[in-house]
Formats: sequence, structure tokens, C-alpha cells
Amino acid sequence: MKKLIVANWKMNPKSFKEAEKLLLAVSKTKTTQHPVICPPFVYLPLLKTKLDLGAQDIFWQNSGPFTGQISPEMLKQFKVKYAIIGHSERRALGETDNEVNLKIKGAILNKITPILCVGYGLSAEMEDEEVMQHLQSQLEADLHEIDPKKVIVAYEPVWAISTGDPYKTKQMENPEHAERICMFVRIKFKVSKVLYGGSTNASNAESFLSRQIDGLLVGGASLNALEFNKMITTKI
Ligand code: PGA
Repeated sequence: MKKLIVANWKMNPKSFKEAEKLLLAVSKTKTTQHPVICPPFVYLPLLKTKLDLGAQDIFWQNSGPFTGQISPEMLKQFKVKYAIIGHSERRALGETDNEVNLKIKGAILNKITPILCVGYGLSAEMEDEEVMQHLQSQLEADLHEIDPKKVIVAYEPVWAISTGDPYKTKQMENPEHAERICMFVRIKFKVSKVLYGGSTNASNAESFLSRQIDGLLVGGASLNALEFNKMITTKI
């Protein structure tokens, strides 16, 4: 079965022209895996593609006095099938588990598949047990009164996100740890898929994808068409 490779473009690229160019370069590739592109909101209505699109966030109400928010209904009009929810960069800005829970509910109600990001650990040395305990309470809160089969989880250890340094990335890569945690989440919470994320790239994608991990959430490497194309054509 094809694995999900989700491109989280974050607040990039700087212009729509560059976004169009990047998407065109990715769209031409004959993929062996299932790519999903999550551009910034403002590019979503303008990008023309056959690839699946996702949003980087979502709000839980469909209309009303919520300045600056984007509703599930609005996103659906632009063929958005997925929404990243609770990314650690948003949690760092103050997003709470309660808000994450409401956003997941709003997405599901509108038939948008939530990609719930969970993670922990400020250092790679942290014991699996401690990570699991933290994830368990995070997931219990985030998935409260939600059918887990409708949710994709992305496990991203905070220490692994956006290292930006190939040497450091290589030193910290730990596919065994990623697999153990992904399996724990899948078995304990019965969610539909568990992805891994944090400095994944063309050179390490296979080492994660060849394990019991259902796909990858990719930041930095998804902004380089050559690199991302290698990831979505990984043979496993
Ligand atoms: P990264 O980002 O691949 O640049 O580490 C992943 C993410 O933050 O989703």
C-alpha cells in the first residue's frame, strides 16, 4: 500500500510564482507513494493540481465573528482533503489540546481528514517510556469524543524538527525509535495511520518508510522539488 508523504510548506515559498513552480515540478513526477501538498492558505485557491491538497490549520466553526480564521467549509471549496492540526509550531504559540480537539471535530464533520501532530522530547536521549507517557495524555485530550479511525496522527519529536543541518540530522536519525512510537500510537489509539516527521529527507526517507510507519510529514525537504520528488518515488 502507498504511504502518505505530506508536504508541510509552512510559511513558504515567499511568492505565488515560486509556489506554482514548485508544485509544477512535483506534479510531473510519477509517484510510488501518495503525496499531499499543504501550502499556505492564500495559495490554496490559486494552485491548480491533480495532487491532493491539505491545509496547515483549520478552524472549528463554519462561519461567524472569528477574525482571521479559516473554516472547514471554505477549505472544502478548494478541494482541500486534509488539514494539519496541532503542529508543534502552533502549540508553541499557545494552541491548547482543547482547541486541537475542537479543530479535529470540525474537520471530521466537514469530511476533511485531520492530520493530528503530536510530539515531545527536547533531546534525542529521552527514554521511549517517557515519550509514550506524554503522548498518551496528549492523545487522550486531543482525541476526546472522537472516532480515532477518522484521524491520521503524525508523531514528530520536537528535537527532530527543522534541524536544517545534514550532519546533525544524520547523528539524530533514529528510525527504530520512530517505529516503536508509531506502533504504540497505532495499537493504543487505533487511529487510521501514524506518520513520522522531523528532518526527513531524500536520504533517510527509505529507512523510515521501510518500517511499520504509514508515511512522513515533511517540512524543509518538501520545498526542494528534486528532494521531495525522490521521497515520493521511494521504492519499498
Ligand atoms: P522538518 O519539518 O521536516 O523541516 O523537520 C517537519 C514539520 O515540522 O512538520
